[in-house]
Amino acid sequence: MALPAAAAAEELVFYVNGRKIIEKNADPEQMLLAYLRKRLCLTGTKYGCGGGGCGACTVMISTYEPASKKIRHYSANACLLPICSLYGAAVTTVEGVGSTKSRIHPVQERLAKCHGSQCGFCTPGMVMSIYTLLRNHPEPTSEQMIAALAGNLCRCTGYRPILDACKTFCKESICCQRKTNGKCCLDQEDYLLDNEEKVPTSLFSTDEFQPLDPTQELIFPPELMRMAENQPKQTLFFRGERVTWISPISLVELLDLKAAYPKAPLVVGNTSVGPDMKFRGVFHPILIAPARIPDLNVLKYTNDGLTLGAACSLSLVKDILTNAIAEFPEEKTRVFCAVLQQLRTLGGEQIRNVASFGGNIISRKSTSDLNPVLAASNCMLNLASRGQRRQILLSDIFADGVGNNTIMPEEILVSIHIPYSRNGEYVSAFRQAPRQENALPITNAGMRVLFEEGTDVIKDLSIFYGGAVSTTVCAKQTCCTLTGRHWNKQMLDEACRLVLKEITLPGSTGDENVDYKKTLMVSFFYRFFLEVSQSLKTMDPCHYPGIPVEYGSVLQDFKTRMPQSIQIYQDVEPSQSPQDPVGRPVMHQSAIKHATGEAVYIDDLPSVDGELFLAAVTSSRAHAKIVSIDTSEALKVAGVFDVITAHDVPAANEFHFSDDPEIIFARNEVICVGQIVCAVVADSDVHAKQAAAKVKIEYEMLEPVILTIEEAIKHNSFFEPKRKLEQGNVDEAFETVDNVVEGEICVGGQKHFYMETQSMLAVPKGEDKEMDLYVSTQHPAIIQEMVAASLGVPANRIMCHVKRVGGAFGGKILRTGLLASVAAVAANKTSRAVRLILSREDDMVMLGGRHPFLAKYKVGFMNDGRITAVDAKYYVNGGCTPDESVLVAEVSLLKMDNAYKIPNLRCWAYVCKTNLPSNTAFRGFGFPQSGLVTETWITDIADKTGLSPEKNLIRCWNECMEKSAYYSRRTAINEFNKQNYWKKRGIAIVPMKFPFGLGTPYLSQAAALVHIYTDGSVLLTHGGIEMGQGIHTKMIQIASRELNIPMSCIHFCETSTTTVPNACASVGSAGTDVNGMAVKDACQTLLKRLQPIIEKNPTGTWNDWIREAFKQSVSLSATGYFRGYNEYMDWEKGEGQPFTYFLFGAACSEVEINCLTGDHKNLRTDIVMDIGCSINPAVDIGQIEGAFVQGIGLYTMEELKYSSEGALYTRGPDQYKIPAVCDIPEQFSVSLLSPSQNPYAIYASKGIGEAGFFLGCSVFFALRDAVTGVRNERGLKKTFALNSPLTAEQIRANCADAFTEMMENNEASSSLGHICVNDKP
Ligand SMILES: Cc1cc2nc3c(=O)[nH]c(=O)nc-3n(C[C@H](O)[C@H](O)[C@H](O)COP(=O)(O)OP(=O)(O)OC[C@H]3O[C@@H](n4cnc5c(N)ncnc54)[C@H](O)[C@@H]3O)c2cc1C
Ligand code: FES
Ligand code: FES
Repeated sequence: MALPAAAAAEELVFYVNGRKIIEKNADPEQMLLAYLRKRLCLTGTKYGCGGGGCGACTVMISTYEPASKKIRHYSANACLLPICSLYGAAVTTVEGVGSTKSRIHPVQERLAKCHGSQCGFCTPGMVMSIYTLLRNHPEPTSEQMIAALAGNLCRCTGYRPILDACKTFCKESICCQRKTNGKCCLDQEDYLLDNEEKVPTSLFSTDEFQPLDPTQELIFPPELMRMAENQPKQTLFFRGERVTWISPISLVELLDLKAAYPKAPLVVGNTSVGPDMKFRGVFHPILIAPARIPDLNVLKYTNDGLTLGAACSLSLVKDILTNAIAEFPEEKTRVFCAVLQQLRTLGGEQIRNVASFGGNIISRKSTSDLNPVLAASNCMLNLASRGQRRQILLSDIFADGVGNNTIMPEEILVSIHIPYSRNGEYVSAFRQAPRQENALPITNAGMRVLFEEGTDVIKDLSIFYGGAVSTTVCAKQTCCTLTGRHWNKQMLDEACRLVLKEITLPGSTGDENVDYKKTLMVSFFYRFFLEVSQSLKTMDPCHYPGIPVEYGSVLQDFKTRMPQSIQIYQDVEPSQSPQDPVGRPVMHQSAIKHATGEAVYIDDLPSVDGELFLAAVTSSRAHAKIVSIDTSEALKVAGVFDVITAHDVPAANEFHFSDDPEIIFARNEVICVGQIVCAVVADSDVHAKQAAAKVKIEYEMLEPVILTIEEAIKHNSFFEPKRKLEQGNVDEAFETVDNVVEGEICVGGQKHFYMETQSMLAVPKGEDKEMDLYVSTQHPAIIQEMVAASLGVPANRIMCHVKRVGGAFGGKILRTGLLASVAAVAANKTSRAVRLILSREDDMVMLGGRHPFLAKYKVGFMNDGRITAVDAKYYVNGGCTPDESVLVAEVSLLKMDNAYKIPNLRCWAYVCKTNLPSNTAFRGFGFPQSGLVTETWITDIADKTGLSPEKNLIRCWNECMEKSAYYSRRTAINEFNKQNYWKKRGIAIVPMKFPFGLGTPYLSQAAALVHIYTDGSVLLTHGGIEMGQGIHTKMIQIASRELNIPMSCIHFCETSTTTVPNACASVGSAGTDVNGMAVKDACQTLLKRLQPIIEKNPTGTWNDWIREAFKQSVSLSATGYFRGYNEYMDWEKGEGQPFTYFLFGAACSEVEINCLTGDHKNLRTDIVMDIGCSINPAVDIGQIEGAFVQGIGLYTMEELKYSSEGALYTRGPDQYKIPAVCDIPEQFSVSLLSPSQNPYAIYASKGIGEAGFFLGCSVFFALRDAVTGVRNERGLKKTFALNSPLTAEQIRANCADAFTEMMENNEASSSLGHICVNDKP
């Protein structure tokens, strides 16, 4: 078949939110996300990663099937959905669900009112996932709800409030949803509440919610139904700038096309081809979309199994298998069960809804979760090419390893045949991934055994692994050798040895990752062995003993359940005026707009006439001289306007905040991978990126390349000054101590992973060198200062505006200033508006994050556990420029004592200068690292003395001990651990004293500006930035109290350098404290001016007074100011008062680990915090929970991996796992301690943004406790070192057993020795 050059390109017809869209020039490279945002100006759907990994872009797709007359609604990631695939479909976006202009939908309302949004950037995606579920299941079960959210990430909330909103839709009551009487069903449980204490546990009232009424939803467009029913199906062609899309309607046509274009991929879900084209530079001029062909969508039961079309979505396969399992006898459905097991956790729902069964198989990725189990089960592939049909075993496509050509290029997969299992046949599938859900596996496996009838003699055995090497592999030799053997200990022993011998992994033994994968391979087989042994017992209890009861629990995988949660806070005094909102759980001021998608972020701003897009060209070398930059090819790309380099910077290209400079464009030398060398501006982001890829930079490598702390120490590469904190006499103290522990711990770095990537828009105003900058930053003043300096204009020409920020966590300060300078320099040169929105990949590669730490410590203590001397050194990986690294190191020193009194202390902090992107501020600012170090040596001492690490602390501690029922649960855990061999539980309680302060008075100054208009409405502004922490909500609450008017009269528009100059950064938990004081000051000034008028007319209304004030020429505008806290630190003298007050807290966490895989489940966390008098308990509890879950990420999951050349591997949510819904504790309670008075902050409150983060380490220590339990039982060495993040790999390695021993010894020859069926190993 010739390429249909003559055939006219079709008009693409589809609907968006009930509106018909006819696209005459549909471009196959255009994804729905960009189309919605740029073409249709529907900016509610967000970009978070572009690769299907975050769910920010979730939309609902509805299609109509004329044969069955059924409408199918499913959620999908718009970022991977080609618009060409939408012919005849209806798309619903968050704007179509509800809006403030018409009516908000119950999902939007409940998410907002349950405080389910903070920065709001993930919220439209959450709304769409929940909405789609409700369209299909108006009363879903909690499992359905949890599954629907597995593909949506939120970096702010910690998910609890989102799930609270979800629960209100669920059929079964998970908890009673906190009735307004303040009682919850969980109150019955002894651990949660003291019944005497009348405290509220409700942050929202369900009584206010509108009911869900399915009849109110947008209907499927009748025109599309008619089109589907009446229009004859025809082949569709769409031609773009570079790519042609062909969608045939018959198999014959498809085979002709494949014969003509054998290299053209078939695109169904685009979840494999899409990321390849987007991220890996793969290009396909022709794409063939076969999804409409009936043969590829078959569902057929035959005598020996089930045949499913290759284009069936994974969700459909999941549903079909679920139904089949319910329908057929258990004996026949073991293969189905094993496949279903993998499908449950494969990707998120949005991926499964579009990804095809055939696509997963044929892409032959080593990480396919389906191929090992399908191959092991003898599934067949029905292939076709022009004039030919054949059937092959699925396992054949892996027979010769990667790149084999079992399937011809012109051949296609029509369907897959899954056989029924037989009598005496057992099938299982296993996987271990960095996160339980929505994460590609590290290693997986599919295993099957068939026994000679009525015996345990192996007739046929199949073992397949994924993730181990670059494709699915079969342990063929092993299986052959074991055929004919009995299913017993000897067989197991030999199987493990043979598997390790047969499957060789790239990398060497001793390489941790290789060892882990190998351990998993044998551990999976062992689990299969246990499962089958148990099944044999069920079949014939007389002959087969089964497995010991203590082994039983390991056969159950961890499940994600709807968490139970409770929040306890202090109610306001009954005497408080009902209008006064302070102390009440008021909804976030923007929450409804977050949920409707109306909240505007930088990339949602409408485009400015003539606007250009900027793409940065970054260094691919960690340390090199720039020999030449060749932009000639880039300039030839269509739409390219210019290339900007260091030569275009009118004034400062470097900023000297300390000795070493921060650099905008690299000039002669690059000092890390990801450093900006130059930038391309073009008429679209696509053109800018295409051109940026064509800039050629020639480098000459420079030595040394320093990436790690160890290398920095070796090369003596540090930023100055080095800091020392010393008190008492450490050397003398060490002479008198009873014991000493020494050790070291590494704490890995962490990416901010704010959902809104770095974003800015620079708009030159055309006169007097003025420029407007719209930036996603937490520090507009520094943006103004840096941009003005780089352009060589006074700061008064640069106006920086921030409406809201989609998450920042410390990452949008100095680094953002450099990026804004790049955009401003480009705007200045081109005299055009320039938009710079980093892709997730660029954001992660170009920018640093939290500082990795290496701590070495020596601690002296007495036999009774008293710690009398500490000598420690902290090495902090600062990256390639200083940024705020020395400050981070200082704070880590000043806060290192946490809740402990250490009489003799000497601690050094060194900031290492390396060739990694510069690390910067991150929530907690050094404390999460140094606090972990301290807790580590406390635990070391506890281990050594045999004393429990529980500490005698303040009220928080006692309350946490009591609320968590620590002692009784410790007993229960000991009991559990006795009864379970391969699963263990652990518990830990961690105290926290979090000092509040910024160290210098001028850093905590703040200002506010309040205008009252003659209609009585109030416009409030201040220097704080809204990035999810609810600062504007709290400021309005404060103004409402001060002016004694309802919150609804007060509006906040934006933070800007034009209204509040020189505002300090919104950092260090200080935003509310300092800006609140300024707002209060401004309001009090106004009220003072109004006082005479009020006194004269005490019964008048606010509006009366304001009108009168205007008539009397009383100024209705006032500024407010706060000078800052009296804090200082003199490092030379080693003295000072760096902090103003302390927050206290304690968290108790319980976990369960799977010793065979290293996997774990967070079972329960109880947090008690003293945060003074909360201004808004909903916001404050949200901050505690969100920070805590981010802490879980740092301490247990988020792992950065670099190449030996310093390039980041973990560049997006696919490789870098932040906590998802499955990671939050199954029981999660937060209690705010009854108010303690804090004289230093507004209304006796305390700044809460950061403190909860550190408490995430309670999970780290609970895991450590569980590992200790394993080691004690197995008689292993008591002292062992664990680093952060404490991943499954580390847990598995420390739960040493015969399997890990096989890695240490020569695995091929060692045996499992004592591992057997009935005895404990
Ligand atoms: C965020 C994300 C998470 C994921 N998580 C997981 C996971 O946890 N586990 C896992 O196993 N997978 C995972 N995947 C991979 C996903 O399952 C596969 O990408 C998907 O199944 C491929 O199907 P598709 O229809 O999207 O393929 P497409 O991208 O449309 O096509 C894939 C390839 O298969 C070929 N192909 C498709 N159909 C046929 C056919 N009928 N005949 C011949 N060739 C064909 C195409 O030519 C193409 O080369 C994930 C993917 C993403 C993006
Ligand atoms: S932007 Fe689409 S999944 Fe992240
Ligand atoms: S509210 Fe979810 S990412 Fe900010």
